[in-house]
Amino acid sequence: MRSTNCRKTFRLIAVLAAFITVAFLIAGCNSGPGKTESSSVNGQKPGPVRIGFLLETLKEERWLRDRDLFVEKAKELGATVEIQVAEGNDAVQLQQAENLLTKGIDVLVVVPHDGQVAASIVDKATQANVPVIAYDRLILNSDVALYVSFDNVRVGEMQARYLLERAPKGNYLLICGSPTDNNAKLLYQGQMNVLKPAVDRGDIKIVAEQWAANWQASEAMKHTENALTQNNDNIVAVVASADSVSRGVIQALDSRGLAGKVLVSGQDADIVASQYVAQGKQTMTVYKPIKPLATAAAEAAVKLARGEKIDTGRTVNNGKIDVPSILLDPIIVDKNNLEDTIIKDGYQKRDEVFKTAAAGS
Ligand code: BGC
Repeated sequence: MRSTNCRKTFRLIAVLAAFITVAFLIAGCNSGPGKTESSSVNGQKPGPVRIGFLLETLKEERWLRDRDLFVEKAKELGATVEIQVAEGNDAVQLQQAENLLTKGIDVLVVVPHDGQVAASIVDKATQANVPVIAYDRLILNSDVALYVSFDNVRVGEMQARYLLERAPKGNYLLICGSPTDNNAKLLYQGQMNVLKPAVDRGDIKIVAEQWAANWQASEAMKHTENALTQNNDNIVAVVASADSVSRGVIQALDSRGLAGKVLVSGQDADIVASQYVAQGKQTMTVYKPIKPLATAAAEAAVKLARGEKIDTGRTVNNGKIDVPSILLDPIIVDKNNLEDTIIKDGYQKRDEVFKTAAAGS
């Protein structure tokens, strides 16, 4: 009798203890916004990792891939992702960061519109104890936790070297990217590493260097038209920093019957550029497989949110600190290897790439 009572009391205590534990966990999950001490268990918040992802734009093909592949990997890792897109506006991007921080995200991933201005996003996040990953574009002069990108100086070198080997003499036009994007500067640096010796030898002349605001094709088209007019169409190569701008360059060349005669570089292997490469209107593009980038960033985001260290073995100085960095390798794409690169990888579909090739060639 006594032992039956004992067992009953013991069971009651066990049920009560389980109830209290569950209630405690639920209270932890629902505790309001912000990273507060009361919401953490052993320094970690219970529940799934919450990632904030700030994109600059979704208007170009590549960023849609970045978004989708990042979310896919984050979900696989059990994390949730909240995305906001600033459409090229710095004030909006800062506001979006503040909004996500107020909602209590654990880690913030940012494609900055302006690499300088975005330092204030990192400052706000740091105050809230939230680590920031600079995605594809470095955030300067800030305590950013990680930089995940491609080797952009190499991309610039690849573009310039490819054109220079095929047009070793003559007039060159440079269509650079957005002046607010640190990548645009790194690309230019890479291009000049290759072109400067040829300029110094007197082999080539850079007739103009133009920066396309917000990487816009319309800007690139305008600059190319002006340069062609000023040089009586005497330009042998246009070093265009990405496919968004090469598109504008090719429109300008096309309207003068020069597409396919003037060499043009690019970057991203987007569908229009891949078609232009197939048609011979764009000489090359640089393929940057997005999956490894998005995957590395999502994995790192989850680790940082859990307070784990990321060992990259490489750093890039951002003007304030040496930022641990993951820099992936870019791949040259031209008419000869479309099949073995972007098509083989499933990055672009063969039918799409060659759809207009016959008409354009
Ligand atoms: C990216 C390029 C992209 C460009 C325009 C750069 O920062 O690295 O891949 O084409 O922005 O969006």
